[in-house]
Amino acid sequence: MMNIMKRYLFIGAVLLIAGTISAQNKYIGAEKCKACHNGTDHGNQYDSWLKDSHSQAIKTLSSEKAVEYAKKNGIADASKEAKCLKCHSTYDAVAPELRDGIKQDESVSCEGCHGAGSRYRSPAIMKNHSLAVRSGLIEQDEKLCLVCHNSEAPFHKEFDFKTAFEKVLHTK
Ligand code: HEC
Ligand code: HEC
Ligand code: HEC
Ligand code: HEC
Repeated sequence: MMNIMKRYLFIGAVLLIAGTISAQNKYIGAEKCKACHNGTDHGNQYDSWLKDSHSQAIKTLSSEKAVEYAKKNGIADASKEAKCLKCHSTYDAVAPELRDGIKQDESVSCEGCHGAGSRYRSPAIMKNHSLAVRSGLIEQDEKLCLVCHNSEAPFHKEFDFKTAFEKVLHTK
């Protein structure tokens, strides 16, 4: 009797864990967002992001400055170094099991600022702000920016939230 109970408890626990994992928000990648957020229908955020340095942050890790910094600090290749990638690439900042379409060359991608999109990706959800937030859409507050804009960054510049916020609005 006890053994059967134990077995059911075990199966129950496995199902519970599986359910929790599958309900986690996953990172679907900028190409998916582009399908709707490119052109005039819902705003041209994709092209605007392409002009923003966040979408180029991986390339920066191969720049002259990065190469020089790496050489001085015993880093073989900054563009392959986890310590640098964690802020310059959304793909690298998240656990492998949460990557569902996102690519490394997206650098700091849409979902780096808006949250993993697997659950809010449907237009019906996105049109309803509170439902979108409950499905993983996050606010772009100062706390979010400071995850990367802090003195741990070797080339950190003073961060003024208001000025910086104006610069990343998708109005370009
Ligand atoms: C199938 C179409 C579609 C896809 C794919 C899509 N969106 Fe949306 N998104 C919408 C629609 C529709 C709205 C509602 C606003 C509007 O109509 O312009 C919206 C709104 C938003 C908003 C504003 C929501 C709010 O309440 O502040 C954000 C931010 C957003 N989308 C980000 C994303 C990101 C990031 C992705 C990719 C992970 C994405 N969207 C993928 C259609 C889409
Ligand atoms: C996941 C990490 C990350 C997050 C989150 C993030 N940024 Fe950035 N940001 C970067 C990196 C990395 C760069 C440098 C890009 C490059 O030049 O390669 C950057 C560059 C910038 C720049 C250009 C700086 C310059 O001197 O040219 C502005 C402005 C900026 N971010 C504003 C913001 C704001 C505002 C937020 C919050 C809404 C934010 N960022 C969130 C990582 C991040
Ligand atoms: C804590 C997050 C973070 C880490 C870790 C990080 N960076 Fe950055 N990096 C940034 C941000 C944010 C910027 C944009 C500058 C700013 O506004 O502070 C940036 C900018 C840069 C720039 C451009 C500087 C300029 O003046 O043009 C280079 C080069 C760079 N980082 C190299 C690296 C290298 C190499 C590493 C690893 C050793 C690294 N970063 C680690 C967040 C980070
Ligand atoms: C560096 C952070 C950052 C990145 C990366 C980013 N966004 Fe945004 N996004 C913002 C901020 C800040 C706002 C303005 C939010 C507000 O007004 O509260 C915004 C607003 C939006 C909105 C609402 C409508 C609008 O244009 O204001 C949509 C839709 C959106 N972003 C989609 C995207 C998509 C799609 C991508 C990738 C192609 C992307 N964002 C990448 C920071 C970012």
